[in-house]
Amino acid sequence: MSSRYHQVYESWEKDPEAFWAEAAQDLVWTKPWDTVFDASDGVYGRWFVGAECNTAYNCLDRHVFAGRAGQAALIYDSPVTDSQQTYTYGELTDAVATLAAVMKKHGVTKGDRVIVYMPMIPEAVIGMLACARLGAVHSVVFGGFAARELATRIDDCTPKMIISASCGIEPGRVVTYKPLLDEAIEISSHKPSACLVYQRPMETASLVPGRDFDWAAETAAADAAGEKADCVSVAATDPLYILYTSGTTGQPKGVVRDNGGHMVALKWSMDAVYGMEPGEVYWAASDVGWVVGHSYIVYAPLLHGCTTILFEGKPVGTPDAGTFWRVISEHKVSALFTAPTAFRAIKKEDPEGSFIGQYDMNHFRTLFLAGERADPDTVQWAEDMLKVPVIDHWWQTETGWPIAADPMGLGMLPVKLGSPTVPMPGYDVQILDEAHEPVEAGKMGSICVKLPLPPGCLPTLWGNDQRFRDSYLREFPGFYATADAGYKDEDGYLYIMARTDDIINVAGHRLSTGAMEEVLASHPDVAECAVVGIADSMKGQVPAGFIVLKSGVTKDLAEIEKEVVQLVRQKIGPVAAFKIAITVGRLPKTRSGKILRGTMRSIADGEAYRTPATIDDPAILDEISEALKEHGVARAG
Ligand code: COA
Ligand code: AMP
Repeated sequence: MSSRYHQVYESWEKDPEAFWAEAAQDLVWTKPWDTVFDASDGVYGRWFVGAECNTAYNCLDRHVFAGRAGQAALIYDSPVTDSQQTYTYGELTDAVATLAAVMKKHGVTKGDRVIVYMPMIPEAVIGMLACARLGAVHSVVFGGFAARELATRIDDCTPKMIISASCGIEPGRVVTYKPLLDEAIEISSHKPSACLVYQRPMETASLVPGRDFDWAAETAAADAAGEKADCVSVAATDPLYILYTSGTTGQPKGVVRDNGGHMVALKWSMDAVYGMEPGEVYWAASDVGWVVGHSYIVYAPLLHGCTTILFEGKPVGTPDAGTFWRVISEHKVSALFTAPTAFRAIKKEDPEGSFIGQYDMNHFRTLFLAGERADPDTVQWAEDMLKVPVIDHWWQTETGWPIAADPMGLGMLPVKLGSPTVPMPGYDVQILDEAHEPVEAGKMGSICVKLPLPPGCLPTLWGNDQRFRDSYLREFPGFYATADAGYKDEDGYLYIMARTDDIINVAGHRLSTGAMEEVLASHPDVAECAVVGIADSMKGQVPAGFIVLKSGVTKDLAEIEKEVVQLVRQKIGPVAAFKIAITVGRLPKTRSGKILRGTMRSIADGEAYRTPATIDDPAILDEISEALKEHGVARAG
């Protein structure tokens, strides 16, 4: 079948408003829009201005009324607790309406923020949808972040309520959430008025009288009293959620997602990009704390009437490298979406794919990869083993849905290894040089998207239009700067090669080296430091920290290195995967004092590098090289 991609992309180019207005017909609006796109509203314009809707209604109630009440909406599959649970659309709607009633009783109303600090259990999804039902704005904080990160988010979005659980489960250890939550509330300036805590059987959290409430007791009481909250109609432009993502400083960026445009873009993508039919089973093996979890565990599959899988486990070790194939086979999954790192982990454990033959994967049609560059070896391995198309696609927390993909629902385009294929309708992607001019095919440049961004993308950063302008719109006037660098080939295929800022990608998790440097610098013995992302065969990149000690420090170096590793774990969280700290005598700098992080990364990766002409003292590069060797980090060049 030939692809309809070019025809559909052209139809969007010809009339973007008509294109998105048609896509919006699939959803229920409580009030129609006045204008599809109002360029004078917001920072760069807003979508579906004047319209009203409710996202939870479109995810749940709409399907119940359309006859899907008995269809599985959510399958929780948890190898780490050896349990499974299925919620039909009817049951999930009920659970969400009940929790929303409890939240309402605690004073949560339209526009209030609610932080969700939860592991991968159904209650996390129920919590997010209950917020959406009330028109409250959720902000999910990934469970692998430490108290200080949680506190920063509490102070930025000032939640009325926090919903949490007693613990998460990592292979071999129970992660207690409540002490982290208590510490975060202790150190934050803003205090939530209530916390609703779900007690898991593996850990009972102690509750602070008057502030903390037991989830099960509260929902059981609401249930017994028949209390259910109705869907609250909100403006399409009202925020649905805030999701914090790494910026160039320790202060994360609060990416705002609206209600209307988000529904339209996600619903459209399920069909056009992922090739899914309502009623089919879709699995995003990510975490609800990340954008992939928001968009493709929770909202998109439910908006489309699919069954979504919530997987509490890892690709390997829970219990083995066949777990993904078991889930696909047992729940008849049609499409899996995960990060390449998960496949690298499986490939390392089971290079011959010996587990695959044990499972019937007849329903499985497509594997989608994103979150980091899909290296050709991994793509090839997955294709050989699974015998299905493997689709690399590219997007960001900011966009909420793919900027570039091979659109399976429009007909697959030929795959080119190393490329996430072509821009999706909505995105006019251009590669610009430093003079802001488009570069020719094959030449590297900054990857930018011509404004306006399509529905679903961030309209701004929470409470900070100016930071939004400064971070994304200022450098290339008229464009959104993705902070990725790359090129387009003669056929318009995109290649995403590197970040242009200090963000690194560790096991598909986006982390700021700047934030880690702030933590290292806070150690009393550290005079200055630099953190760079170095290549790792499993996680893609891992952080490596170089520290220069204050003069006169006599403490054992290995001891200090251990302490700074522990400090990052404590202040940012285990997810930072910060395990390499190296003491050096000095850092390589330009004559104007700029630390040469790129050159240090090249040395660590064993890549050829040119000694920068502006370097202050070239001998320092040899010292870095030696220090890396001593720590067993240097690779052969
Ligand atoms: N709560 C608490 N701690 C968590 C956590 C959570 N939700 N998630 C991860 N961590 C911890 C891990 O236990 C680990 O701690 P450790 O240093 O004590 O071992 C640390 O954070 C790093 O975690 P991670 O990067 O996930 O590494 P891992 O070695 O545990 O697993 C992979 C490696 C590749 C198996 C795993 O990263 C993975 O499945 N990634 C792909 C899928 C994905 O989630 N992508 C994200 C966006 S699509
Ligand atoms: P996040 O906001 O966590 O989704 O991270 C977004 C960043 O991850 C992008 O800006 C890219 O740097 C990187 N990324 C995501 N998907 C891809 C991909 N398919 N290929 C290359 N890089 C990717």
